[in-house]
Amino acid sequence: MTSMLLLPESVHQGDLILVSARHPYHPLPPQDLVPVAGTEVLLERRAAQALDDLMAAIGGGWSAIVPVSGWRSQQEQQQIWDDSLAENGLAFTQTYVAQPGCSEHQTGLAIDLGLRSDQVDFLRPDFPYQGICQDFRREMAKFGLIQRYPAGKEAVTGIGHEPWHFRYVGTPHAAIMAEKDWTLEEYIAWLRSFPCGNGRACEQEAALSFLPAAAQGPTPVDLPKDCSYSLSGNNVDGFVLAEWGRCHG
Ligand code: DAL
Ligand code: ZN
Repeated sequence: MTSMLLLPESVHQGDLILVSARHPYHPLPPQDLVPVAGTEVLLERRAAQALDDLMAAIGGGWSAIVPVSGWRSQQEQQQIWDDSLAENGLAFTQTYVAQPGCSEHQTGLAIDLGLRSDQVDFLRPDFPYQGICQDFRREMAKFGLIQRYPAGKEAVTGIGHEPWHFRYVGTPHAAIMAEKDWTLEEYIAWLRSFPCGNGRACEQEAALSFLPAAAQGPTPVDLPKDCSYSLSGNNVDGFVLAEWGRCHG
């Protein structure tokens, strides 16, 4: 074991941060943003790499699919909100645009994708449940991606059904969410049942546990030396630890 101290702001960092109207984004520079598929759309480097790998795995995905909107600054999200409010009204805007400061596009871990065509709608691009777009959905969990705002979960996410919006959460989390049909909200809530040192969930060959953030100051954590692991803040109240090689039988 290696002991580490996690700074309070780390709760707001990592691939599993839940960003929503209830849990605003905490900007923590520097972000490592890179262009997606040679366009001006930007994503966090590991999310862009996962997306590239997925597009290659489904056989030239980038020839049929275009990146529409990736990382957004606070100002850009504000502009999108204001423009949509003026053009589409409040009900539409609240359904399809996150409030400025509360959009996971600001994390650099979310991207809107559209089927390539002469006219791609910026707010609601076409990403059908068939053909290459469905190939993308079928394979995405292996690459750490989820569809973030599914149909039937509008009351949970607070956002309308968005077939075009994908979020990088990493592995094994995407596969567990896909298998259990859970949104990020539901997954983060479930993980709290497995407090570190007091039980853990074994899913997708990973042992998962939750470490509540200390009420004040840094949170101590024991990290394994003998197996690989990932650690992420949840942007709410603690950290999620995934360890490989700890689930047997
Ligand atoms: N369309 C999503 C909800 C956003 O604006 O972040
Ligand atoms: Zn989006």
